[in-house]
Amino acid sequence: MQIGIKHLLGLQGVSANDIQMLLDTATTFKQVLERPIKKVPTLQGKTVVNLFYENSTRTRISFELAEKRLSADAVNFSVSGSSVSKGETFKDTVRNIEAMKVDMIVVRHASAGVPLYLTKICKSIVINAGDGIHEHPTQALLDMFSIREKTGKLEGLKVCIVGDIAHSRVALSNIFGLKAMGAHVSLCGPATMIPRGIENLGVKVYTDIDKAMKENDVLNVLRIQLERKAREYFPSVREYHQFYGITQERIDRNNKDILILHPGPINRGVEITSDVADGPNQIILDQVTNGVAVRMSILYLLGTRTSEE
Ligand code: CP
Repeated sequence: MQIGIKHLLGLQGVSANDIQMLLDTATTFKQVLERPIKKVPTLQGKTVVNLFYENSTRTRISFELAEKRLSADAVNFSVSGSSVSKGETFKDTVRNIEAMKVDMIVVRHASAGVPLYLTKICKSIVINAGDGIHEHPTQALLDMFSIREKTGKLEGLKVCIVGDIAHSRVALSNIFGLKAMGAHVSLCGPATMIPRGIENLGVKVYTDIDKAMKENDVLNVLRIQLERKAREYFPSVREYHQFYGITQERIDRNNKDILILHPGPINRGVEITSDVADGPNQIILDQVTNGVAVRMSILYLLGTRTSEE
């Protein structure tokens, strides 16, 4: 049996079977990563380009490690140092890179829809590593993997995504993925950061973080994206922290067993305090560790897929 999708552009419309296969295969690769020699020859002879038009620490390094651990040839492109500064267009850049016989493109871009556009102008398999405020499917898959690893299930679990939902690609991918796997998904944040009509995706909306903490098993705490003008959506960072910041005191008062995730990078003292970010309820670095196995799974399942359907 092979995966149904040809590219990973997002989790919207991806079947529960495909997500299950991605997560189960990641479990196998996680075992590989625990061996003294963390490498398999699975993608030997394949070339993967990591096309990053936007900054990244976790996703970029995680993909590069995943590619190397599958024995693929990994090439990194970043805008700084490239001929983009000489006026070369995105389309020309990509077509020149693809002319060097690449098989897969992992792309991060500030504009939503760039991964889909790539599938129209390239022959390569495309993996979305985050496109604008649209989707970040590999982050959601590693979040789901980490939750499942910790709790043993996704179906029936109550997961609340907290923060700037309106500008979050992580939120949207988590909503689609978690709902496909049978979790109960809710959102919590200031009304200005919750898109109007989002309930139509089948999610519950809270504006009271204490209530959300009492009623959920898992909190996925989003970064307040200060570089994307998030400050315009609440009076001050201090006020955001007061009303929505996840503190150990809030955990102790509302739900001492709640599981805390954060996709990173963290704004310590804004959406989460250091005692929580480094404390017993969180699995933030487990998420990062699991990201390599999850990305190996994606690269493997898409890179070895044979059907043209
Ligand atoms: N979570 C995440 O996407 O982090 P980076 O921006 O560092 O890749």
